[in-house]
Parts: sequence; structure tokens; C-alpha cells
Amino acid sequence: MPIIEAEGITKIFSPRRKSAVVTALSELSLDVREGEIFGLLGPNGAGKTTFIKVLLQIVFPTAGTARMLGAPIGHPGTKARVGYLPENHRYPDFLTGAQVLRYFGKLSGVESATLQQRVDDRLRLVGMQDWHKTKIRKYSKGMMQRIGLAQALINDPQLVILDEPTDGVDPLGRKEIRDLLMRLRDQGKTVFLNSHLLSEVELICDRVAILNKGSLIRMGSVKELTMQENVYHVQIDGSVPQELWMQWEATRVGVQQDGATLVLSLGDLRDLNAVIDQLRSHGILITGISQKRQSLEDMFIDVISREGNA
Ligand SMILES: Nc1ncnc2c1ncn2[C@@H]1O[C@H](COP(=O)(O)OP(=O)(O)O)[C@@H](O)[C@H]1O
Ligand SMILES: [Mg+2]
Repeated sequence: MPIIEAEGITKIFSPRRKSAVVTALSELSLDVREGEIFGLLGPNGAGKTTFIKVLLQIVFPTAGTARMLGAPIGHPGTKARVGYLPENHRYPDFLTGAQVLRYFGKLSGVESATLQQRVDDRLRLVGMQDWHKTKIRKYSKGMMQRIGLAQALINDPQLVILDEPTDGVDPLGRKEIRDLLMRLRDQGKTVFLNSHLLSEVELICDRVAILNKGSLIRMGSVKELTMQENVYHVQIDGSVPQELWMQWEATRVGVQQDGATLVLSLGDLRDLNAVIDQLRSHGILITGISQKRQSLEDMFIDVISREGNA
């Protein structure tokens, strides 16, 4: 059973001024499976935060339906099983980190008998145990994000929804947050996160959906999205004789040279093997062969520029 299931979600913000109408989401459908880290990615303004707000019923969709944890969104029983880190959150800055966690713990119905232990545990989890007596106003952006994460986990949620969890955090802190999210997954929790940092999210997400201007442009596992099936890089030592180039051109084998790398776009593996045989028979040393993987960022730029040209 999917943990989140959205069908054709559209959100149009229509203020009184007609010129300011914004289609923030356009028929977005996606599903998030139990126990995975799912990333909703895209540039600023793509509609990521709006989607989270629809799930949590902070904004209401213009069209479409969604289910979360097996019930239609807005079902009161399911909200208690969700943790949420909002984008640019602000807590009362006269409270200490521990006080914020106690406050949110009570709001989300954690029993008094277990509250203190829960707060201590979450502080340790995010590495803030030495700062729990310090007032929020003295926290750095990274510390704010950590307390925010602890807050999102205070009710021991089954599903954690995080809006730009590493925003404003330094590289070491980001690594720690990524490790923490992977630990949550290991504990069987489902993590749904929003991010505009494609290269970072690529490292930990099981599956991603890529959004641009409110529309889904790709969804799948990171591997699926970044693997270009039939492109191989062959590293060579030596120069390719003219004769071979002519042969490849005549037989329509797609080969391009980039320094010591031959970039092969091929029909199938037999073509790759044929090219290798040809190279070897001309005494060219092959020093490496790899199937090409794009980064998510490369893929995103590719898709956007192709759409722009179309
Ligand atoms: N309350 C609102 N009223 C009008 N427009 C909004 C509102 N909230 C978001 N938008 C617009 O919707 C689009 C998507 O915003 P958002 O979901 O915040 O994007 P992201 O989180 O991907 O950066 C943007 O163009 C934004 O200006
Ligand atoms: Mg956002």
C-alpha cells in the first residue's frame, strides 16, 4: 500500500488581481512507498512546498485527490502519525531548544510520562544535547534546522515530511542530516522530502519526482533517471585511424571522440563488442570502459532545455 498517493493534484492561486493568477501545481500524480526516502525536486517556485501544504491541508487543491497513510488527506487520525518540518520555520525565540521540543511534544499528544525521555532522545539524535538550555535566538541556521528535525520526530511519526531539510546547513551538517535520514529509513520510517539541491538528494533518495513549473517531468529511482542505457565511454591509449572512422560512419555506429575517451551511442551490446574488436585489431590499447551515468542535475538541465526548444 502506498504511504502517499496523489492523483491529478492541481492548485491555482487566484488572488483578486487577475494578472497574479499562478498555477502552482498542474495535475500532479505521484506515489510514495512504505520505508523509502522519496525526494520531490525542482527549482524554486516549482510547486514543492505547495504540494506538501496540500497533503497537510494547509492549502486546499483546486482539483485532484490524495491519500496518506491509507486514508484521504485531512483524516484526523493520520495527522498524528505524520511529522512535519516546514520551510523557514520560526519558533518563539525566547524558548530554549528543549522547551520547543516539550511544547511540540505536548501539542502532538506525547504522554507526560514519556515526554522528557523523548525530548532527550531527539536532542541526542540531532546532536543538540549540549545546546538544549540555550535560547533559540542564539542558534545558528544549522542548529535551527536540527531542532526543527527533532521537532518533526517528537511524536515518533510513521511518515516524516521535510521541506528543504538541509537549507542553510553547512556541508558537514548536511552530511549528518543525510545520515540521520538514512537511519530513519533503516528504522522503517518513510521520509518525504522537498529539495532544490538535486546533487545532494541524489545521494540518499530511493526514488524522486522532478517538478518544473508545477508539472511532473520525471519520476523514478535515481538509477533509472540517470542511466542512459546505450551510452558507453571507452578510454583509449593511441589514436583512431581514419579507416575506422570511415567504417563507423558507413555502418552508422555513433562514435565521438573527447580527448582520450570515445563516446559510443549504440544500438546494443553487440555493437560495443564490435567496436572493441576493431580498436584492438588496430593495436589500440583500451584502458577503461564504463556505462555513462548522468547526474540528476544534468538530466534535469537536459529535459528542461529540450522542452524549451520544442
Ligand atoms: N499563497 C500563495 N498565493 C499566491 N501564490 C503562491 C502562494 N504560495 C505559493 N505561490 C506561488 O506558487 C508557486 C509555487 O510555489 P512553492 O510551492 O512555494 O514552490 P517551491 O516550494 O517549489 O519553491 C510560486 O510561483 C509561488 O509564488
Ligand atoms: Mg519551497
